[in-house]
Amino acid sequence: MSARVIITEVAPRDGLQNEAGVIPTDDKLRLIGMLADCAVDEIEATSFVSPKWVPQLADAEAVVEAIMGRKQPPRYSVLVPNKRGFDRFQSFVDRGAWLKLAVFTAASESFSQKNTNASIEDSIERFREFVPDALAQGIPVRLYISCVIACPYEGDIEPRRVREVADDLMSLAPQESIDRGLIEIDLGDTIGVGAPADIIALLSEFDESVRSQRLVLHLHDTHGRAAECVRAGLQMGVKKFDSSAAGLGGCPFAGSPENPAPGNIATSILVETLRSEGFACGVDIDKLRTASEYAASIVARARAQQVS
Ligand code: HMG
Ligand code: MG
Repeated sequence: MSARVIITEVAPRDGLQNEAGVIPTDDKLRLIGMLADCAVDEIEATSFVSPKWVPQLADAEAVVEAIMGRKQPPRYSVLVPNKRGFDRFQSFVDRGAWLKLAVFTAASESFSQKNTNASIEDSIERFREFVPDALAQGIPVRLYISCVIACPYEGDIEPRRVREVADDLMSLAPQESIDRGLIEIDLGDTIGVGAPADIIALLSEFDESVRSQRLVLHLHDTHGRAAECVRAGLQMGVKKFDSSAAGLGGCPFAGSPENPAPGNIATSILVETLRSEGFACGVDIDKLRTASEYAASIVARARAQQVS
C-alpha cells in the first residue's frame, strides 16, 4: 500500500490574506465547503490576527462560526499571533469547536519584526502565554517558522538557524504533548526560493523520526521549483505538506505592493507530484479542479472590483 501523506489546504487563509480586494464571507465559506468536499486532511480557515494588519481576514469570527459545528475531517486550523488572538480562539473552543491552533514566527529577525512587530524571541515568549494552555486542553498546535531558506530582507538563512528556532519553539511543549502527537513544526519557504538541495540541507538538521512525524513543508512556487522540493521532502521522509487551491497566496509582508510574493504550491501540483512518486493522499482530483476554479474566480472578481 502507498504511504499516506497529509495535506493542509491553506487557500482560505494564506491564499486570501494577500489580496488587495476583500473577498465576501459567503464566498470564503463556499470555498471552504468545496475544499472540505475534496477530502483534504486539514484546512487553514482564517486568522485571529489584528484586522488592522490583515483586513482581508477581519471576518474571522463569522468564518469560524460557520464551520465550528463540524467535528470530522478535515480539521480546521486558525492562525493566532498573540494572547488576544488566543482568547478569540478559546471562545470557540469553549463552545465545542474542533480546531487546531497555528502560531507563527520566523528564522529571520527582520521578517519577524515586519510580520508581527516582535523579535523571534519575543514572539515565542508571546506563545508561552497560551500554547501550553492549548496543549493541556489536548488542542493540536502547529508552530510555523517562516523564511526557512531565505528572507526578503536578510537574504540566505542558515539551516542551523532554523533548527535553533525550532528547538526554541519545542520548548513550549511538554514531552507528554509531543508524545501524544499534538505538535508539528511547519517550515515555510515564504518567498519560494528553495531548490531541492536547500530543502535537503535544511531537513538534514532534523532527525529522521522528527522529519517523518512532526515536520510540515510549506512551499511557495516562485521559481516553479516547488514540485521538485516536494520530491526532496518525500525523499527525506516528510509526510505533511501545505498547498493552496489555484496556487493562491503569499505573505503580505514578504514582498511589496508592486512586487508581491508569489503564491503557494497549487494543491493540484502537490497531489500530482505525490501520486507520481507513489504516495497516497485521498484527494478527489475532479472536485479539487472545481474548487480551484472557484478559488481563482473569487480572487479574479475581487481584483476586477479593485480596478473598476
Ligand atoms: P501590534 O500593532 O504590535 O500590536 O501588532 P498591538 O498590541 O499594538 O495591537 C494593535 C491593534 O491591534 C490594537 O488595536 C490591538 O487591540 C489589536 P487598537 O487598540 O489600536 O484598536 N490587536 C488585535 N485585534 C484582534 N486580534 C488580535 C489582535 N492583536 C492586537 N490577535 C500583531 C502585533 C501580532 C497583533 C500584528 O503584528 C499582527 O496581527 N500580525 C499578523 C500578521 C499576519 O497575519 N501575517 C501573515 C501570516 S504569517 C504568514 O503568512 C507566513 C506563513 O504562511 C508561513 C510561510 O509562508 O512562511 C504562516
Ligand atoms: Mg505562506
